[in-house]
Amino acid sequence: MSSPGDHPLRAVIGGHCNPARITRLASEGASPEAPQAVRRDRFVAASPGYVGAMDITEVILHQHMEQRRMFAMLEEWPRDDTEGLSALWTRLAILLETHAEGEERYFYPELLHRGEGGGDADDVEEETEDAVKDHNKIRDAVRRVGDAQVGSDGWWEAVTDANVENSDHMAEEERQDLTDFRLHADLALRHDLAVKFLRFEAMTAARGIEPVDKDPEEWIEEHQGS
Ligand SMILES: [Fe+2]
Ligand SMILES: [Fe+2]
Repeated sequence: MSSPGDHPLRAVIGGHCNPARITRLASEGASPEAPQAVRRDRFVAASPGYVGAMDITEVILHQHMEQRRMFAMLEEWPRDDTEGLSALWTRLAILLETHAEGEERYFYPELLHRGEGGGDADDVEEETEDAVKDHNKIRDAVRRVGDAQVGSDGWWEAVTDANVENSDHMAEEERQDLTDFRLHADLALRHDLAVKFLRFEAMTAARGIEPVDKDPEEWIEEHQGS
């Protein structure tokens, strides 16, 4: 049996990976033919500033789960605790808006340059234009919740409408846009975008941001040239 020092995985990963890591990868069945863990380690080893690799497609997917969970939390909350409902909704509204704005700043411009149309999308322009349109619809639905009296029937209807708009959008984004990006963007770019996206959200999470609708066609024109 080869020692970590001369294991063939070392040639793939590079000289910076510690022997214990190589032993563990080998024991998990990793081969030099490129399992994802090995490729990620090679990327991290070649990038001394990174302590680990993230992936914008995983970050977005994870936050979609958080959004679903927060809608579920509202449904389970005591209906007479309007102060609590208001606070929960405010957190969710901030997440929805900073998430959509972060995607428009960091994810969709890169998808537009690299994508080819994922899943059942006709092409990358169509999937990107749809996403910008959907984000506007979600913003409208969030505004309608804000205009209603917390805990009233109208408020719950508006929350349900926001859930429907957001659920429809997330399903399409996961099926088309994230798929397209996984196929056409390498892990280094996916890591860099994850850092920018999370940084933007962390900087704005406490107070939220002013929602700004975008004209989908103008947005595409502007970002295709950049
Ligand atoms: Fe999203
Ligand atoms: Fe989105």
